[in-house]
Amino acid sequence: MPTYEISPCTKLIFFATRNMHKFNEARSVLAECNIATAMIKVKALEVQDDDIENIARLSAIDAARKINLPVIVEDAGLFIDALNGFPGPYSSYVYRTVGKEGIIKLLEGVSNREAYFKSVVAFCSPDGNVICFEGIAEGKIAMEPRGSSGFGFDPIFEPAEQPGKTFGEMSIEEKNRFSHRAKALRKFAEWYRTQASSAFIVSSN
Ligand code: IMP
Repeated sequence: MPTYEISPCTKLIFFATRNMHKFNEARSVLAECNIATAMIKVKALEVQDDDIENIARLSAIDAARKINLPVIVEDAGLFIDALNGFPGPYSSYVYRTVGKEGIIKLLEGVSNREAYFKSVVAFCSPDGNVICFEGIAEGKIAMEPRGSSGFGFDPIFEPAEQPGKTFGEMSIEEKNRFSHRAKALRKFAEWYRTQASSAFIVSSN
């Protein structure tokens, strides 16, 4: 488990998630931006909606209300061109039911393998103000699952920026160079660093 240096001016953010993989990815990206990440396992509302941003936004409002702290929530989905964007916001359900093998089966004989992952990071302050940041990773669905790193659809997704290699074949640091989540988190970090009022300073002494 890597450790990240905490300087006296490191900002802290609470990340409401139960997904250890997402947390580790976020921790690594945000550490590069001098932001420390604390995982908080609050049971935040997860509405069903066609729009990932709405899901993240409502979930962040609920989490901030429950913990009374500034918090981020992240929601993501895999959008496959040949399936008109399916599973998109239903990715979690599809993963739990048919899994990555089900997606490979659905695309049997389909030559258009284009797909993208979309991530929305929603920040909410205790007073209920929300701001969202989006990240997209374009890529392709592999012919078969490859690699055992990461989670979810990682073994079947090859990012366009690193063709021939799936997220499942990458370390966290490598995935973070290309991933939807890292892109959204970097946008969040750029904004959060400029925010004085919601800053938490971690003192090293
Ligand atoms: P969630 O609702 O944000 O947890 O994401 C929905 C589903 O999309 C998850 O159950 C995963 O199967 C999949 N997913 C989201 N992000 C990723 C990722 O970075 N890699 C692989 N699969 C992902």
